Amino acid sequence: MIHGSGPLGAWGSHRLCVAPMMDCTDRHARTFLRGFGPGIVLYTEMVTAAALLHGNRDRLLAFDPCEHPVALQLGGSDPRELARAARIGAEAGYDEINLNVGCPSDRVRSGRFGACLMLEPERVADSIAAMRAEVNVPVTVKCRLGVDEHDSTEHLHAFVERVADAGCSLFIVHARKAILGGLSPKENREIPPLEYHRVHALAAHRRDLEIVINGGLKTLADAERELQHTHGVMLGREAYGRPEVLGILAAALLHREGDAVTAADAVTAYRPYLAARLADGVPLHAMTRHLLGLFFGRPGARQFRRILSEQGCRDGAGVEVLDRALAAVDPTLAQAA
Ligand SMILES: Cc1cc2nc3c(=O)[nH]c(=O)nc-3n(C[C@H](O)[C@H](O)[C@H](O)COP(=O)(O)O)c2cc1C
Repeated sequence: MIHGSGPLGAWGSHRLCVAPMMDCTDRHARTFLRGFGPGIVLYTEMVTAAALLHGNRDRLLAFDPCEHPVALQLGGSDPRELARAARIGAEAGYDEINLNVGCPSDRVRSGRFGACLMLEPERVADSIAAMRAEVNVPVTVKCRLGVDEHDSTEHLHAFVERVADAGCSLFIVHARKAILGGLSPKENREIPPLEYHRVHALAAHRRDLEIVINGGLKTLADAERELQHTHGVMLGREAYGRPEVLGILAAALLHREGDAVTAADAVTAYRPYLAARLADGVPLHAMTRHLLGLFFGRPGARQFRRILSEQGCRDGAGVEVLDRALAAVDPTLAQAA
């Protein structure tokens, strides 16, 4: 099994990461997911460099100190804009700046960034070099195996080589290619087949780099299998949809002692944050919508979701709604929380 030394300094490695996901991994979700264990590397939703330069920075960048280690994912294709955005992100306290070279949506394509940048290694390299010149934290890339018919091993290795030469030493690779014409982003996460062996080959080819594998990983067995070949695993949909798996993975892969953090433990850890943000005026549902995957498959889970979804949206909804939802799963949890 490969043990990464990791570019995150005191935080260690990228053995276990949660993927950037628009509309999912906002600051509330990240704070909640952090409850499953220290050391899991959390990624923000993609923020475009232009939004950061011209939009509401405080809103886009706010995060809770408990989120460390936390990486800011940027979208963009202009090296100078990206460099300025990276600097703003690093100054805000992010531990890593990650460039999105994997998103296949039309909106992203029309801005000439995301997955289509895999066809422009020079531009990505220039962007990485420009960002690195502005920040002291690691600058990393999240990419795919390729795009459309440009998905040969030669193409992938040449892309990585050019970008690594510019100073990127960690690549997160979603183990499928992107198809840019005709597939929705959702289809692009399901239809192109997963080809883990090609990520393994990259890791074997470039042992000097840290390679984190992403795509379709669900269980501890999946993660342990992939860690035979790569430095880290990144989970997206499973981590968000069935968050308890993170507790199991963190206990086995990072902490190596003690029991896995359970759903109930994670809710308990989240509760003070939730109460504090409610007092700031954040609506309950904005925070509890990230809990809907908890207790999946357990008796009462459906009611748990229904109470949070229906009652959590009402004006003035407070922590008592969470208690009611927890009581549907296990009456002792409401008091324990
Ligand atoms: C709702 C959703 C939003 C996503 N948003 C982003 C994003 O902002 N940036 C990015 O690089 N990938 C994004 N992705 C892709 C994930 O990071 C990940 O690569 C993909 O879901 C495959 O991993 P998984 O099978 O573990 O979910 C998104 C995925 C989902 C499901």
